[in-house]
Amino acid sequence: MEQQLLQLAVSAREELDRCTTQASLEEFRIEYLGRKGRFSTIMRGLGAVAAADRPRIGQAANQVKAEVEALFVTRKEQLAESGNTRRHGLDFSLPGRKPVSGRLHPVSQVMQETCAIFASLGFAVAEGPDVEVDYYNFEALNIPPHHPARDMHDTFYFSESLLLRTHTSPMQARIMESRQPPLRVIAPGKVYRCDSDITHTPMFHQVEGFLVEKEVSFADLKGVLTIFTEKMFGKDLPLRFRPSFFPFTEPSAEVDIACVICQGSGCRVCKKSGWLEILGSGMIDPEVFRMVGYDPQVYSGFAFGLGIERIAMLKYGIDDIRLFYENDQRFLTQF
Ligand code: DAH
Repeated sequence: MEQQLLQLAVSAREELDRCTTQASLEEFRIEYLGRKGRFSTIMRGLGAVAAADRPRIGQAANQVKAEVEALFVTRKEQLAESGNTRRHGLDFSLPGRKPVSGRLHPVSQVMQETCAIFASLGFAVAEGPDVEVDYYNFEALNIPPHHPARDMHDTFYFSESLLLRTHTSPMQARIMESRQPPLRVIAPGKVYRCDSDITHTPMFHQVEGFLVEKEVSFADLKGVLTIFTEKMFGKDLPLRFRPSFFPFTEPSAEVDIACVICQGSGCRVCKKSGWLEILGSGMIDPEVFRMVGYDPQVYSGFAFGLGIERIAMLKYGIDDIRLFYENDQRFLTQF
C-alpha cells in the first residue's frame, strides 16, 4: 500500500504538468482527489493492513494527500496567473477576427456633408414635419389652389388639407412666421412625390436653405451657392446660373454644373447639353414675405432647394436612383 501511495504521488506530479486548462485541472482533481478518486480507492484498503502498521501508513497517506493537494493548488494558481493563452478553452494567441463595421448610407454621407458646408457659412439647421398642411406646402409659398405649379408636385394627399410634404420649402414659411430676421437657416429632410423611375423615388431627401436680412442681393445668393458647389464638387467644375421660375422666388435661377460624366462635351447623362441641374434658387418673392408678416420694403433674402440623391448621383456617377434604396451591400460598401 505504501508502494501504491508513492506511485500515486509520482503520477499525480506528471499528470499535473500536463494540465494546461482549468477544465483539465478539474478532471485531475476528480480523478485523484475526488470521493471516488484514486486516493480514496487506495485508502479503502487501510482496513486490511495489520493494526501495527496502520499508524505509519496512515501518516504516510496523509502526507501524500497533502502533497498532491499542494501541487494541485500551485498548478491552479500558475495557470490562472501565467500568460497561458488557452485558459477556459480559448486560445487568446490566435489572430482576431476583424469586426464587420457599419457605415453611413451614401445619402446620409452627402446629407451630412451638405449640412456641414452650410453650417460653415453660418446657417443653422432646422427640421420640420413630413406630414404637412396644404397651407405651408403650397399657399404660404405663393402657390394658391388651382395654381398650375401644383401639378409638378405629384402630391400624396391624406385629405384636402393634409399631405406628405413635396419639398422642404414649407420650412421657409414655418420659420419666418415664428422668428424675425436676420435669418440664415437650412432645413434638411425627407420629401415625398408620387413618382418612380430611374431618376425619381417616391421618397427622397432635400435641403432647403434661405437667408433673410436687409439688403441681400442676387450676388449673395451666387456667392453662397458657388462656395457650396466648389466644396461639394471641387473648384475646377464650371457652374452656371440659368433663369427659371418658382412661385416663391423672383427672380429665380437653377444652378447647373458641367456634366461630371463628359465634362461638358455632351453625353447621354446630360442629354447632350453638357450641363446638369443641381438645385433651384432665387430671391424670396415679396408675396412670401407679406404672408409671414415681413415688410418686403425692409427685408430681402434668397432661398434655394437641392436634392440630396441627385447630388450624390452626380458626385459618385450613379445612374439609377433606385440603387440607394435596394440596400444591396455590394453597392453600399463602396462608399
Ligand atoms: N422647392 C423646390 C422643389 O422642390 C426647390 C426650390 C427651388 C427651393 C427654388 C427653393 C428655391 O427655395 O428658391 O422643386
